[in-house]
Amino acid sequence: MAMSQIVLGIESSCDETAAAVLAPDGRILSELVLSQIADHAPWGGVVPEIAARAHLAALAELTREALRQAGLGYAGLGAIAATAGPGLIGGLLVGTGFAKGAAIAAGKPYIAINHLEAHALTARLPGLSPTQPQFPYLLLLLSGGHSQCVVVEGVGRHRQLGTTLDDAVGEAFDKTAKLLGLPYPGGPALEALAREGDATAYPLPRPLLHRPGADFSFSGLKTAVAQLTAAQGQTAVPRPLAANIAASFQAAITDILADRLHNAFLSRPDISTLIIAGGVAANTAIRTRLDSLCATHGKTLIAPPLRLCTDNAVMVAWAGVERLRAGLTSTLDAPCKPRWPLESL
Ligand code: KG4
Ligand code: ZN
Repeated sequence: MAMSQIVLGIESSCDETAAAVLAPDGRILSELVLSQIADHAPWGGVVPEIAARAHLAALAELTREALRQAGLGYAGLGAIAATAGPGLIGGLLVGTGFAKGAAIAAGKPYIAINHLEAHALTARLPGLSPTQPQFPYLLLLLSGGHSQCVVVEGVGRHRQLGTTLDDAVGEAFDKTAKLLGLPYPGGPALEALAREGDATAYPLPRPLLHRPGADFSFSGLKTAVAQLTAAQGQTAVPRPLAANIAASFQAAITDILADRLHNAFLSRPDISTLIIAGGVAANTAIRTRLDSLCATHGKTLIAPPLRLCTDNAVMVAWAGVERLRAGLTSTLDAPCKPRWPLESL
């Protein structure tokens, strides 16, 4: 019998505990995600120690259930993959420690997955788009922790065209939402409020606009919003005003992303496909704008379904499938890396 190529993937780098089992042809045999949003909401953001403890409490049972739904035991797996970075060290230690222990017990290879590469490779999951995107393609990763524009040239081969110089784009959404008195996580709430507002109400700054390159900067934008809300003194920002700020903020972000991506397209005319990923890729205003930008440049836009854009374990298992196929397994002394730039792979 041929050796199994089925991969169990584990994700625990931030505030989702997730496990998934994938067949080598990309069929999802099971996928489970446990969000910790309720645990962190009272604090207005992710608390690393709470996250690590919640991963520890949930992971064993979640993995057992993922295997049960896939109809497999550990013996039926070809490898066990876990996110080893970048992310919060406590959660990374829980996930990789569990995966390594299972790999030792089951006598299977362990694969350390870079979370950013997992986001980058997700779009290649068979069945997601009419044709599987071939290397090289452009990835715009827009999440709570990361904002990057990367050329994905192959498994383990990435070239960064731009990154944020300060806040991640999701972080900018969340911090601005907080200033407007919206609940955590702020992105979806801010987008909803923006629909009631006038996007031209406030001419907010658009850092780096029309400058060369594809780097981002969002903190000046957040500061400008802070000045607007501070003008309200101790009282809450009235809803019509908050809606105008939200709409103006979203328009500024959208302009920045489109401008930076325009430069990226010009610098790599050989690339025909743009993939967007990360929680902020759920934003309709951003999606619509990137859609028309791609149409203008003759590029194809691929946005994986939202559940695969945000943090999940299917992407980790799929990166594991691609790495296992390429013979790129890890040793058991592979460390966790809270910082782990894609280019260093
Ligand atoms: O990828 P993700 O689920 O987690 C990581 O950070 O890795 O992204 C979460 C981020 C949060 O900052 C959240 O506010 C933002 O994505 N987000 C949105 C929207 N939905 C989620 N931001 C803007 N508009 C949205 N509709
Ligand atoms: Zn992520």
